[in-house]
Amino acid sequence: MMTSKETTLLQRTSLPGIAMWSRWQADRSMFFNSFFVEGEENLIVDPLALEDADLRTIEAAGGAAWIVVTTRDHERQAGALAQRLHARIAAPERDLKELTVKVERALRDGDTLGRARIVQFDEMKSPGELGLYLADCETMIVGDALQGDPPGSLRMVPDAKLGDPKRAALSLRRILALQPRNILMGDGHCVFGNATQALEEYLATRTDVLIHKINLDELTDWTERHGPGRLHRRQAEVGFLLGAHRLGYQVLEIAPGEWGSPLHGHTEEEELYVIFDGSGTIRFTFGEYPIRKGDVIALPTGKRGAHQLRNTGPSKLVVLALANNEPGDGCFYPDSDKLLFARNTMPRMVSGNRGTDLDYWDGESG
Ligand SMILES: [Fe+2]
Ligand SMILES: [Fe+2]
Repeated sequence: MMTSKETTLLQRTSLPGIAMWSRWQADRSMFFNSFFVEGEENLIVDPLALEDADLRTIEAAGGAAWIVVTTRDHERQAGALAQRLHARIAAPERDLKELTVKVERALRDGDTLGRARIVQFDEMKSPGELGLYLADCETMIVGDALQGDPPGSLRMVPDAKLGDPKRAALSLRRILALQPRNILMGDGHCVFGNATQALEEYLATRTDVLIHKINLDELTDWTERHGPGRLHRRQAEVGFLLGAHRLGYQVLEIAPGEWGSPLHGHTEEEELYVIFDGSGTIRFTFGEYPIRKGDVIALPTGKRGAHQLRNTGPSKLVVLALANNEPGDGCFYPDSDKLLFARNTMPRMVSGNRGTDLDYWDGESG
């Protein structure tokens, strides 16, 4: 029943399909926040109590398929809301035992739910603490991993509350690797814009850990790229993870018999490859040459540096790729006469001759 006391707390944000509501916590002197994320499956994250009018707004937008609890400490009104909206509850696998609500999906690192990809943190206030990354709007939503306090800044909860403060702080680099523009938090003020910079500023205060170093055996965020035939590689972002700005580094892994990418060159980014392990060949427009562990290979911009890695050896080929970060970089593909430009914002692949839009793999074969 609508009463004269009913207040509307649900607000749209500047981000597409994301609304939030907040309640002031006098004992903590901060706002607690909850989020409504519309997508193929609508999500509600860490729900506080909702006014009737706001519930009706959410129902009118299709309700929620899932209520996501990011940590055992943010169960809040998940149970009541799940019942009211006929939604199911998803929560961190590592926190399941400590939740009182019925959880229908246990969330693990790398899972996809609605528009979100799950990012698992280590040794935070709860062992299960996770974040939701929305690539389409460069936004990370976290529960207690970070708090927005004072407004415009980020910090962790006091070290005494963390499972292992050093490991917890280092796991926040997984957010750096994604370079989000916005970080929305269950507690405190959300940071809209410049969120990566705010996180770097917080991590710079953590002199107990060195965020600028990682061992290759500690990389966890691998992505894969599959093309036709033998075209396939795994890669992990390294530079952004370590707080690098002007230089980008990635580790590439190519399995025996596979080729790492189409033959391609860059217009602005000069690359360096260091062969960490394995053997194979590197193919240029002017020839194909053997490579082995310990090799250092310069890839200048322009046609001269256009390259393709091929693993012709018996074991995994592991390569550190380093380049200057140039937002205006473009790629060209001599085998298929294609151009790729504005890679980071609106990737667009066109034919060199005709200027028509093409698929990334058009004209390539492996
Ligand atoms: Fe919290
Ligand atoms: Fe390249």
